[in-house]
Order: sequence, then C-alpha cells, then structure tokens
Amino acid sequence: MQSLLKFITCGSVDDGKSTLIGHMLYDAKLLFADQEKALLLDSKVGSAGGEIDYSLLLDGLMAEREQGITIDVAYRYFTTEKRSFIVADTPGHEEYTRNMAVGASFADLAVILVDASQGLLIQTKRHTRICALMGIKHVVFTVNKMDIVDYSRQVFDELKADIENMIQEFDFDSVKIIPVSATKGDNLTVPSENMEWYTGQTLLDYLENIQVDEDDKEKEFILPVQRVCRPDRTFRGFQGQVSSGQISVGDEIIAYPSRERAKVKGILVTDREEQTAYKGQAVNISLDREVDVSRGCVLSSDENITLSNMFTATILWMDDMEMLEGKNYYLKLGTKMIPATIMKIKYQIDVNEGSRLTAKKLKKNEIACCDIAISDKIVIDKFKNNRDIGSFILIDRVTNMTSACGIVEHTLRRSENVVWQQMDITRANRASQKSQKPKTIWFTGLSGAGKSTLANEIEKRLYAAGRHTMVLDGDNLRMGINKNLGFDETDRIENIRRTAEICKLMNDAGLIVLTSLVSPYEKDRQNARQIIGENDFIEVYVNTSLDTCEKRDVKGLYKKARNHQIPNFTGISSDYEPPVNPDIVVNTEGRTVEEAVAFLLKELNARL
Ligand code: ADX
Repeated sequence: MQSLLKFITCGSVDDGKSTLIGHMLYDAKLLFADQEKALLLDSKVGSAGGEIDYSLLLDGLMAEREQGITIDVAYRYFTTEKRSFIVADTPGHEEYTRNMAVGASFADLAVILVDASQGLLIQTKRHTRICALMGIKHVVFTVNKMDIVDYSRQVFDELKADIENMIQEFDFDSVKIIPVSATKGDNLTVPSENMEWYTGQTLLDYLENIQVDEDDKEKEFILPVQRVCRPDRTFRGFQGQVSSGQISVGDEIIAYPSRERAKVKGILVTDREEQTAYKGQAVNISLDREVDVSRGCVLSSDENITLSNMFTATILWMDDMEMLEGKNYYLKLGTKMIPATIMKIKYQIDVNEGSRLTAKKLKKNEIACCDIAISDKIVIDKFKNNRDIGSFILIDRVTNMTSACGIVEHTLRRSENVVWQQMDITRANRASQKSQKPKTIWFTGLSGAGKSTLANEIEKRLYAAGRHTMVLDGDNLRMGINKNLGFDETDRIENIRRTAEICKLMNDAGLIVLTSLVSPYEKDRQNARQIIGENDFIEVYVNTSLDTCEKRDVKGLYKKARNHQIPNFTGISSDYEPPVNPDIVVNTEGRTVEEAVAFLLKELNARL
C-alpha cells in the first residue's frame, strides 16, 4: 500500500503558497486534462497577466480568489507513483493563527515558505512556532522567489543560516531547506538549471521520500475507548483507535481508571478477526472478563500509568470571547469529555517572538502556558509521549464552541500526591443524624432584588421547623474569606467558585445552606451547580426588575453607580444574565415579603 503524507503549507499572502503546490502538481502531471484546460482559460482572467496562474488550482474557496488570499483551511488530495498526499492550505496572517493551528493539528509535515527577496520575517517565526506547538516534527523551508534574487547562492546561504539559527529553540526531528521558484518551477519536481550550486533534493522528491512514521514497536499499548459495543448479551467489545503500541490476543491489559486487569479474548480490525492490532488501526477488543469500562476510559498494557486531575499545558485561544482565569469549560482529551477550569495563566507567549508575557486573560489567536484542573483523575500524558492523550480542546459550556486547543506539557505532581481521604462518618450519616436532606438553595438576582431578605426569612422558618441551616451572604463573605476579591469578571468567578465549595462542605456537614449572591453569570452558576451536585442545588431566581431595584436602592449603591462612583456595577455597568433554567422563580414586585416567602416555602418544601 502506498504511504500517505499529510502536510500543511504555511506562508503569508504574497509568499506564493498556492502557486508552489499548484505548480508542483502541474509539472508532475498530476492534473486531469480538462482541469488543465480550465486552468489556462481561467488564468486569462486571473491575476498573473496571461501566464498560467498556478495558484488557481489550489485556492479552493471563491472568496479567496476574489480577495487574493486564502481564508480558511482548504484540503487537497493528490497521488504520485510513490505516495499519496493530503495538503492543508491555510492563511498566514496573525488573525488566522487558529486556522493554521487547525491545519497543523492534522499534519505530519509543514512546508513553510520564506520569501528570498524579503529575508526571514517575523511571520515565518510565527508559522514555525504554531507548527511546533501543534506537534509537527518535520519541516521543509522552501526559500521561494529565487528568480527575483537572480538565483543568488549568497542570498540563499544567508537565509539558510538565519533559519538554522531560528529553529534552535524548537524540537523538530527533521528540517530541510530548499531554494525554489514557485512561479518558474525551479526545484519543484526537477533540479533547477538555474541553481546548479544546489545539489539537494527537489521539493517533490523530498516529500515523496521522507519517513515520518515513528518506530512505535517499543511503546506500550494505549487505546482510548470511544464506544462500548454490545450487539447482544454474549458480546461486549471496546472500540477505538489504537493510539500507541500494539496488542495481541492473550495479552494482559489494564483498564483505567478502575485498574482492573483482563486478558484480550478477541480483536476485530474493522470487521476482520485479527491476532494483533497496531497503532492507528480502528479496533474492537473483547476481554475475558467483565471490567468497568465506558467511553473515555483507557485500555493499556502499561502498569505504571498515573492518573491526574491537574496539568500544565500550552493553549491557543480560538474563541471571540476572551479566556479568563477561573472560568469553567469542557475539556475533550482522547475520548474523554470532562469539566475543566483554567486555574492560572503562568505566562502568555508572544506568538511572533516567543518571549514570555504576564497575562490575566487571553484574546483570540493568543498562546499561553496555563495550569488546568479537571473534575476527575484521568489518563493524561505529555504531548511529546502521546499525541492523542496529550492534546485536547476546550469547549465553551454555553455556546458549545471550541474555545481553545492545547497540548499537555506535564502533569502536576501535586495532583498525583493528593489523595482523597475517605472518612468513616459520611455526609449521609451526618444528614440522617439531623433528619434532613442537605441542599444548597442558591438565590441569584440583582443587588437589591431581595435575596438576603428572602434567605433570612426562609432560614427563620426552616430553623423554627427544626431544620439545621446556614446562610452564606455575598456581602458578608466578602468581608472575610472573599476579602481579596473585587467585582471584575475574574474575581466574580472566583467568588462564586469559593462560595460553592463552602456550600458543598456545609452540605457534607449535613446542613441546608442558603446563599445570597448576585452571581450574575450563567456559566458561574452552572459551575456552582457542578461543584455542589445537580441533585443538591436549587437555583432560586429572585426576579425583580432593575427599575424596582434602583427605586428601592436600600444601600444607596445604584445612585453611586449612576454617578460613576462604582465600576462594574451589576445592572448598570456590568451585565446580569437571568438564569436560563432556574428551579424556582420568585417575583417580588406587587407582593409583600410575606407572600413571597409563603410561595417560596411551598416550592422549597416539595424539594427538601
Ligand atoms: S457577585 O456578583 O460576586 O455574586 P456578591 O453577591 O458577592 O456579588 O456581592 C454583591 C454585593 O456587593 C451587592 O449586594 C452590593 O451590596 C455590593 N457591591 C459592591 N460593588 C458591587 C458591584 N460592582 N456590583 C455588584 N454588587 C456590588
């Protein structure tokens, strides 16, 4: 079978990327006859003034042709006698960094264009950095437009030295530097007669012959389980793609995270029974005994896998919405989806120069090194060791957009060395001693909506009825445990997170907790729900209009906020997002406090 090389081309608008590949295909006679004709006709109206415009072959999107730039990732497939290729053509400007990252994430090799007439530009450093970040191990620098510099050996040698100097900070397995002319065709498919001083391979020759597969025989077998397949009661198979190593019938494997052991009974590769399966194959593995495995688990021959719930990663932010420390996302790593929080941005990395910057947030196309925590311990490895369980994406929990992609630098020891201590007296014991179900009643609404008043009244009723309760009031917490927090988005996230953790502890103590916090953002309330537990969290939306709150203005804060004396004031200079799906909505307008309390108690009693 012919081998397949997946590569990406990187370059800026005028570097001639599309022309380079188009010309190579054309010269290698990799075009169908009518496509060639179409190209000739098309180019009459193209931008190359009568000559064949080879870039038209590659520019997949109409909008691109109109603007003369590549705006998205275009994939092209071609075959020579020696090899099959898929090439991802991506735009090069800084604002399209994320598109390039998407293209690079699929590729084994990058062809990076350098303009001989301009020298090594900052964008080339950026392109190289993104490729390295996305795990590309093999790079070809094509020094293009050699025709414009009169095929000067000196120009090429100087550029070559600059490139060799630049790549020192990266860890590529192979680097090749080739002088070419994309428009004239020098060194694309046949050695250039204009540069006899260059005796190395042509671009096509190089791409046809480079070996990009690692020798994987020594590596432990790893299979992230994608699906548990149960066609009938007699068969249970675990499906997925082998991420590293190989496995044979009779081998022992360990299921993570349960660490149960079993022997491989049968292996299906697609629908064929096989004795052995290898890296990259889609398999269905059955075992000789029942083990606790579901989607997201990992089967491995490695006995020494440690599970982690914290790691350091380099991420590329892709979302229009800024990334903030402390925010909660879904993390997809291997086949596992799990809630995750970016705990801390350690430093931002200047995408062009590689220098380290301090940052509290990240904008689209920015790169940073961060510490990330996930809600459970799972199998994670360094990206260097394993691409599949060492890379991930972060997904916005509300919009479902891919917010970032990232690679794991290393797991954090502290997570491995902290072990949950199981106590003999449990939440259930403490709760039954108090004859109640611990719950958190989470009041949210604008400042002055009546949250604290209602929480106070409800607690009195519950207390009188013999319940064991505690009120956590936002203002009060901010005088103690949350003293160091303000009101910008990052601090509010932390305010909610800490309060939710306290609620959980108090629920563990068997108490019914009532919180009164503005908690203006849906995502943070969802995060609180996640921390406290879906079944124990009751979200009460105290629905009072801004107008009414401002008229009441019990603390005089709205007046101050209107006079610009309080920044980020909820409702005035900062948003309040009403709950999307609250458990209870209580309207306070046109009702006495007594009436609102009576309504609430009825609703709550059904849930407590
Ligand atoms: S939250 O948004 O982080 O949940 P929290 O409930 O703890 O806020 O605190 C809100 C209380 O702080 C309000 O009731 C009000 O008394 C006071 N406060 C002071 N500054 C602000 C502000 N900028 N926005 C909202 N509340 C503020």
